[in-house]
Amino acid sequence: MCGIVGVTGNDNAVKILLNGLEKLEYRGYDSAGIYVNDQKGQDYLVKTKGRISELRSKVSATAGVHGSTGIGHTRWATHGVVSEANAHPHFSNDDRFYLVHNGVIDNFQELKAKYLSDVPFRSQTDTEVVVQLIDKFAVEENLDAKAAFLKTLSLLKGSSYAFLMMDREQPDTLFVAKNKSPLLIGVADGFNVVCSDALAMLKETHDFLELMDGEVVTITPDKVAIQDAQGNPVERKPFHVDMNADEADKGTYPFYMLKEVDEQPNVMRKLAQTYLSEHGVPQIDQKLLDAMQAADRLYIVGAGTSYHAGLVGKRLFEKLAHIPTEVHVSSEFAYEQPMLSKKPFFIFLTQSGETADSREVLVNVNDAGYPSLTITNVQNSTLSREATYTLLLHAGPEIAVASTKAYTAQIALEAILAKALGEATGQIVAQDFNVRQQLGLVATGMQAIVDEKDKLEKIANDYLMQSNRAFYIGRGIDHAVSLEAALKLKEISYVQAEGFASGELKHGTIALIEKDTPVIGFITQAKTAGLTRSNLQETMARGAKTLTIVREGLAIDGDDLILPDVDEMLMPLLSVVPAQLLAYYTSLNKGLDVDKPRNLAKSVTVE
Ligand code: F6R
Repeated sequence: MCGIVGVTGNDNAVKILLNGLEKLEYRGYDSAGIYVNDQKGQDYLVKTKGRISELRSKVSATAGVHGSTGIGHTRWATHGVVSEANAHPHFSNDDRFYLVHNGVIDNFQELKAKYLSDVPFRSQTDTEVVVQLIDKFAVEENLDAKAAFLKTLSLLKGSSYAFLMMDREQPDTLFVAKNKSPLLIGVADGFNVVCSDALAMLKETHDFLELMDGEVVTITPDKVAIQDAQGNPVERKPFHVDMNADEADKGTYPFYMLKEVDEQPNVMRKLAQTYLSEHGVPQIDQKLLDAMQAADRLYIVGAGTSYHAGLVGKRLFEKLAHIPTEVHVSSEFAYEQPMLSKKPFFIFLTQSGETADSREVLVNVNDAGYPSLTITNVQNSTLSREATYTLLLHAGPEIAVASTKAYTAQIALEAILAKALGEATGQIVAQDFNVRQQLGLVATGMQAIVDEKDKLEKIANDYLMQSNRAFYIGRGIDHAVSLEAALKLKEISYVQAEGFASGELKHGTIALIEKDTPVIGFITQAKTAGLTRSNLQETMARGAKTLTIVREGLAIDGDDLILPDVDEMLMPLLSVVPAQLLAYYTSLNKGLDVDKPRNLAKSVTVE
């Protein structure tokens, strides 16, 4: 979702902004723009619909664009259509203030009607209302830029925002405000930067300052002045992001998604090294284990793919640790909280650590004083900072919109945590579960699957390319994977795919099966293998084109994709991989943009 970059005090501002925006492309966007000022009276605004490559061309075609301070933005449309006029930066009618914004201003219509009825607008955005309001207060009440900015912020009700503003009268200063939407300040050598995600500025610095909700910051080339919501100055030390800028490059891969699918065996190994001793003993913070043990029920909360990883986690926590576990979609939980147990413990699953729906739940959980853990891929992300405990996924940056390695990393880490908890409470099944050895087998098995790309591409062409509908089916943990498999297919190939509990088909949905409807069955659990096979037969009898993804120990003649055997509880780590690749090749061979599917954003920072 929208991305923000800014820089002050570097003559290469244009290059830094464009490179930064390119690194934020993965978040999803439909238009982009930059504003730069050279502090000698020259400034430039360039905006476009479409990609950063188009913005680059437009910048090159505009004579003389240069500057040392500037702001940039990628927009994912919320208020108003995708157009150049609606792209950021927005500016006041007297050309004095320039503003980029992430988030949503809930009361922008009221503000417009109350204060700006005589002001002509160029765009349909909530952001333009904010910049015109800042200008109005500056001019009519003779306020300086910061005072006008603060006054405007005080009028924004229940809104989520990250703002970055420039004033032509103070051309070396960036004005920043943050509430709910993520924003970081990067401290570089002789200059400073601003970004929605550290990835955007890793070429400039590895040292970042986090911002808390309600804080307002003024940044010049040699100073970062933070003040809290009450106006008090805040001293904060930067944190170091230990990531190589190259990790976020796709190298020789055509798409990030393929690279990230291929990285999964290494992610499994890395998690085992990080969280397990050489002898397989879990290395998890004792305080976290104590807090979880004290709970009478675990509540896993997540969205999309992370929610699906939670569905597998439920099985792991219940089997290995014997703790009742519920899994909830965050956007539902936030506004219709189920009845809670007496001693709940919350686990937030989130690749980005920034998902607004999940954060809303965490805010309520913190207000109620319940303990929580965030399992995330992003160090210092909002959900990580605000939960009681954090475990990092160590999967490396996930750039493709479709989540792959974060899903498998979440499941692997849940397995390690469930093992640790189960051992702590003396569960025999946990003691017998050699998670280190199993993750080694998983890594080898994943490698074998990703080495079969030709076969998977052919299956995608034969089974999925010609159809605009498909079903993934399975029972129990296989059903959990079928939901994720269907999500992968629909989000990047636009095939209408459903994940289904195979036993439910004949209670209604089988009516949709017609000649050549693709139905793909996961068969990895001994207890339900026969039942899922029967359900596949039932669809075949109605013309479906079926395909089986089967654990080796359960395979029979005629099965299509055979997965290496690992512990049944960990089979989702293997069975999802062919589904990821089937989605990838279907999208690729349809000529779609695999990494940036339409209408989607990587980091969903508005509710
Ligand atoms: C699907 C996908 C999304 C995310 C969801 C939650 O491939 O990536 O469904 O899983 O938006 O995001 P995080 O995990 O960052 O909270």
